[in-house]
Amino acid sequence: MLYARYFLLLGIILLTFGCQSSHEINDKPIYLNASNPIDTRVDDLLSRMTLEEKVAQMCQYVGLDHMKQAEQNLSKEEMESSDAHGFYPNLHSSDVVKLVEQGKIGSFLHVVDVKEANYLQSLAQKSRLKIPLLIGIDAIHGTALVHGATVYPTPIGMASTWDTELVKKMSVETALEMRATGAAWTFTPNIDVARDARWGRVGETFGEDPFLVSEMGVAMIEGLQNTNYPDSFNVIACAKHLIAGSESINGLNGAPTDLSERTIREIHLPSYQAAVDAGVFSVMTAHNELNGVACHADKWMMTEVLRNEMGFDGFIVSDWMDIERLATRHFVAEDQTEACFQTIDAGMDMHMHGPDFLEPVMELVRAGRLSEERINESVRRLLEAKFKLGLFENAFVDLEKTKAMVFNEQHRQTALEAAQKSIILLKNENDLLPLKKGKHKKIFVTGPNANNETILGDWTWEQPQDNFVTILEGLKNANSGSEIDFMDVGSDLRNMSQKDVDAALGRAKKADLAIVVVGENSFRWDWKNKTCGENSGRSSIELFGLQQQLVEQVVKSGTPTIVVLVNGRPLGVEWIAENVPAVIEAWEPGCFGGDALAQILYGEVNPSAKLPITIPRSVGHQLSIYNHKPTHHFHKYVDAESTPLYPFGHGLSYSTYEYKNLVLSKETIAKNEAQSISIDVSNTSNRDGEEIVQLYLNDKHCRFTRPVKELKAFQRISLKAGETKTLEFSITPDMLQYLDHNFNPRIDAGEFVAMVGCSSADKDLLKASFFVK
Ligand code: BGC
Repeated sequence: MLYARYFLLLGIILLTFGCQSSHEINDKPIYLNASNPIDTRVDDLLSRMTLEEKVAQMCQYVGLDHMKQAEQNLSKEEMESSDAHGFYPNLHSSDVVKLVEQGKIGSFLHVVDVKEANYLQSLAQKSRLKIPLLIGIDAIHGTALVHGATVYPTPIGMASTWDTELVKKMSVETALEMRATGAAWTFTPNIDVARDARWGRVGETFGEDPFLVSEMGVAMIEGLQNTNYPDSFNVIACAKHLIAGSESINGLNGAPTDLSERTIREIHLPSYQAAVDAGVFSVMTAHNELNGVACHADKWMMTEVLRNEMGFDGFIVSDWMDIERLATRHFVAEDQTEACFQTIDAGMDMHMHGPDFLEPVMELVRAGRLSEERINESVRRLLEAKFKLGLFENAFVDLEKTKAMVFNEQHRQTALEAAQKSIILLKNENDLLPLKKGKHKKIFVTGPNANNETILGDWTWEQPQDNFVTILEGLKNANSGSEIDFMDVGSDLRNMSQKDVDAALGRAKKADLAIVVVGENSFRWDWKNKTCGENSGRSSIELFGLQQQLVEQVVKSGTPTIVVLVNGRPLGVEWIAENVPAVIEAWEPGCFGGDALAQILYGEVNPSAKLPITIPRSVGHQLSIYNHKPTHHFHKYVDAESTPLYPFGHGLSYSTYEYKNLVLSKETIAKNEAQSISIDVSNTSNRDGEEIVQLYLNDKHCRFTRPVKELKAFQRISLKAGETKTLEFSITPDMLQYLDHNFNPRIDAGEFVAMVGCSSADKDLLKASFFVK
């Protein structure tokens, strides 16, 4: 009996000690030892976690300062009537502090101050398992929600550069600035294919073409998730939004999308496949429903397509309060518990954001509706992210070490270069541009966007005045020797004064040149007045308010006029295109947009950007896309031109380029054979320049209707004055594929047409046919 007790005790001691030794080496738990492989660390940590600690990893909250602002500035009614604010009824910011200490929160967003980031991480260190927080931020074009960060051109401008190396460089820098300011995960790239200009978020996309969007998205992911520098400066990218919210009914953000599976697979999914292939480690689901299924509960899309078909092995995050909206907006779930079930069952890994997730999910596991194994799957992915980022070793930002990493000389240079390469010269009649310094005695400058921060674009918070250059400031910095007469009409597009507009005529008459800066306003900090950006859908794409009248008055003066558009979506500025000699699409060119624009006006920089999206004439011309089907323009409008105002791929230069000698390496190829096509491009001017050469293909006859052309490759090249270069493009079998009845890729025998040129317009393309046997 005594022996039996002795052995029992010994057994217990051995068992306890044995368990511990399998978890710990030299007193340090396996998961805290950075020399162990990530899988081993994840297994070890997972084995120590309670169910509550696991589900907590799936929970995200908004930052404390963000909550405090809502607590201070919002009325009770505002808080109750909208879920758009970072506020949780019945939960104070001080309660959130305790939740972190108790290990009940895994992630934060909207933490825009590095001190707050460090503070939150210090709270997490007090929790039982000391699991660091994953802090996410919308660093869409630079980590621009942070005061003092470098603000690059918005993605539609970055796409206009057609320069993947530049996008990568900007993304590497963004990652550094993020880590220097406390975030390790960015909700970017937005790889939605944007074909409807009414949608307010066009500016944060790479435009309308699946291939260009994919190339840009991949460049951004590779730059952000860069593995060539130490873990502590790596971040995780997030491809969003799955899927097709860019083509919602009526162009309203979050409204239902109803598109065929063919369109989804041909147009909207390729950029996701490219992102997955590039190793993107998170994906965000979309606000909208697709064909009757809310994206946040779409098991087919999240699990079958994204994970099983495409091979995604990272984690999926919900969009802002969209799990709640399964019950409160889509009415596909009766309550929050059911909403949590539907979304997790469909494949969701993290809840953005707030307290209504932890309890319902635990209840679902206790009730046996969700298995703990299913929770483990999500937690595994989330922990893997934290280990990969080196957060267990480097959760804190050392301010001394990192302060030189933000808005430094190199990043400022990149922002300027990006702006220079993103501004598109749409029209230049009689070579009004470039301007000669000293030629104009007086230049009249006006327009609501001439002297404000709208150049910074959406997803930007107010930046220090010294950190950005408005268009007016850029013109002044240019030291052209001309007197600048600036007429301030305010920045409020909706409420411009008729008196100002009328006064423009007289003021313009007294000048030798006029520059009118019009467009849109994406000021996030002036949410109620903005006309563009998130949740700012429009029912028309004309210039807002009296802007067109202002331009008309200036043109009426007879003074040569340049219109500069600063905007986040294509604008149907037909009158301007017809009546103004020089038109520039600047998009939202970022913090040095003013300097870049002036350098282009004065010819110090030769414009080279091209449209990543068609500019339609009016809202009624939607969808004006270049890759349309053959019958798209079969019959014409009776009240308007049917052609776009400016085609996809269009953009002028001060140089002139000539395309000659389009030569295919073979006229007939087998289905699995690649071939090449070459072209001579010459700079026939006396000015050095950069040109974006585009290759399109068309499958001439196919059982399924095929687009009249599809972009398959492009090259941005520099050409000295008088120089000719021979470019070669490969045409590979994947470029010839279409999707059959079952959406399997297929190539049919027959004729294909290759087109190479400077835009998607037929007049700009040389063509050559080849045959597949
Ligand atoms: C947007 C997302 C964004 C999130 C967090 C949502 O409203 O749709 O794109 O990442 O907010 O800010």
